[in-house]
Amino acid sequence: MTVHFIGAGPGAADLITLRGRDLIASCPVCLYAGSLVPQELLSHCPPGARIVNTAPMNLDQIIGEILNAHRDGHDVARLHSGDLSVWSAMGEQLRRLRELGIPYDVTPGVPSFAAAAAALGAELTLPGIAQSVVLTRTSGRASAMPKGEQLANFAATGATLAIHLSVHVLDRVQDELLPHYGADCPVAVVFRASWPDQRIVRATLGTLDPAIGEGERTALILVGRALAATDFLESRLYAGDYDRRFRPVGTTPRFPE
Ligand SMILES: C[S@@+](CC[C@H](N)C(=O)[O-])C[C@H]1O[C@@H](n2cnc3c(N)ncnc32)[C@H](O)[C@@H]1O
Repeated sequence: MTVHFIGAGPGAADLITLRGRDLIASCPVCLYAGSLVPQELLSHCPPGARIVNTAPMNLDQIIGEILNAHRDGHDVARLHSGDLSVWSAMGEQLRRLRELGIPYDVTPGVPSFAAAAAALGAELTLPGIAQSVVLTRTSGRASAMPKGEQLANFAATGATLAIHLSVHVLDRVQDELLPHYGADCPVAVVFRASWPDQRIVRATLGTLDPAIGEGERTALILVGRALAATDFLESRLYAGDYDRRFRPVGTTPRFPE
């Protein structure tokens, strides 16, 4: 018996890995984390599967479900939105499973920041403009930011920021970033990236209306010059005079066997 943690992707039901889909289909128990996991994914569960929405449950109750499946020798598909490496609460579940000696594995998913960048048709790392992406959030009721991880500290680097769980405090985000990025810095707020009702608001830090954050909470705030830059350098990787292993300068054809 194994608990398979599976990244369910950002929303579109076909943005799950083939491995994730096949694992769902092979598990008689499926625990899924609430409304951010698309319901269509549950149609991959085998007939008669026990399907449980864990949104209203606490950690003890979730582990209770897993213990029942363990007792019955049933594999579990454990679905969380996006990828599991960020804000999935997987860490605390894995710690419990390790203590209980219950086997598990992890299948990655498409993270929401990647879906948002795709919706914008944007590369977040453009040569000479930004070469880092910071996945971050602001303090919430349940989780304070560790000392040193304040937005202003990341902003001081000029990197592209992908700010999660914060659209309801857009005014605060704007105030903290303005001194670092300037009023003309591009911002894009992507609501429900990849869902059928996806919505994009583009602005600059100076023109962004914080009121757009009222209501829908599933949104990413992307900030940085890479979002609208047109005068960036071309990557050296594809430059004609760039000598590299798969395309040594002077070879014909360009991709020798
Ligand atoms: C609990 S976190 C989950 C993050 C997820 N594990 C991931 O890989 O992106 C939820 C936050 O992620 C962002 N998010 C998740 N799905 C999103 C989507 N489809 N579009 C925009 N933002 C999304 C929002 O900021 C939301 O408040």
